[in-house]
Amino acid sequence: MPQPRYRQLDWYEHPLYYDIGIAPGSEDEAVFLEEVLSAHGRSEGFRVLEPACGSGRLLLEMAKRGYEVAGFDAKEAMVDFARRRLEAEGLSGDLRQAWMQDFDLGAERFDLAFCLVCSFQHLLSEEEAVAHLRCVERSLKPGGLYVLGFHLADYVHQGLSRERWVAERDGVEVTCNLSFWPPDPCTRREKARARLKVRHHGAAPELYETTWEFRTYDLEELQRLLDAVPGLRHVATYDFRYEIESPRELEDDHLDVVLVLRREPFPSGAGAIAG
Ligand SMILES: C[S@@+](CC[C@H](N)C(=O)[O-])C[C@H]1O[C@@H](n2cnc3c(N)ncnc32)[C@H](O)[C@@H]1O
Repeated sequence: MPQPRYRQLDWYEHPLYYDIGIAPGSEDEAVFLEEVLSAHGRSEGFRVLEPACGSGRLLLEMAKRGYEVAGFDAKEAMVDFARRRLEAEGLSGDLRQAWMQDFDLGAERFDLAFCLVCSFQHLLSEEEAVAHLRCVERSLKPGGLYVLGFHLADYVHQGLSRERWVAERDGVEVTCNLSFWPPDPCTRREKARARLKVRHHGAAPELYETTWEFRTYDLEELQRLLDAVPGLRHVATYDFRYEIESPRELEDDHLDVVLVLRREPFPSGAGAIAG
């Protein structure tokens, strides 16, 4: 049987398809972020920042709840989409193009920053990851929180993993097939592929494919990274269920982690990191 032909496409250049595919669940994530702020926050304002904000699905949820929102993304298409959707709801936010590993929001200081669904793993080197955490630290008020969600790598029990789901909005149906190849402990990379089947109002489906490489972290590698930025202190761990009543220990029997890091009053030094 002939294999269906997938056209190469950068999913992140197509915010609508990204948003339809990923937005279900945004409300639960926003509720969780608010719960984290009241459980672990020590600053008292309502200013939130999302590095790598994508289509703005979470910024929209937070703005609807009365937060003053700011976000940035590498892709102009994502930033435009996020800005327009806030405007469409009569809301506003500070949205701009910027890089996770090198951003500076000037005198802006936030009570909460968040980066979920593994965006952080797009930073492919330790230097970029550390630089990102230091930029976040500088952007937070003392006592401000950074909520960082990603997958830990299991270098031992390796195998291909897949996820498939379908989502629909206004007659556009997006079927997402995500595949992750085993992480490589030498290169600290894992390959991921998204295959999308997009159907507009029941028409013949369009088939698209995007591939990425993600940086991988096991528990030890994560701990070394956190040690390199002492000005962000790890105060709690949750997982992708986003249940405030179910905190976890940071252990390697569980691979989805949502870390809560709190900005300490003193800044991080220029400590080196091995590996
Ligand atoms: C998985 S999406 C997550 C979007 C959003 N945070 C969410 O929860 O839906 C990853 C986003 O990271 C952005 N991105 C990737 N590398 C980046 C970088 N170095 N700096 C800024 N944004 C980046 C992509 O353009 C994409 O919008």
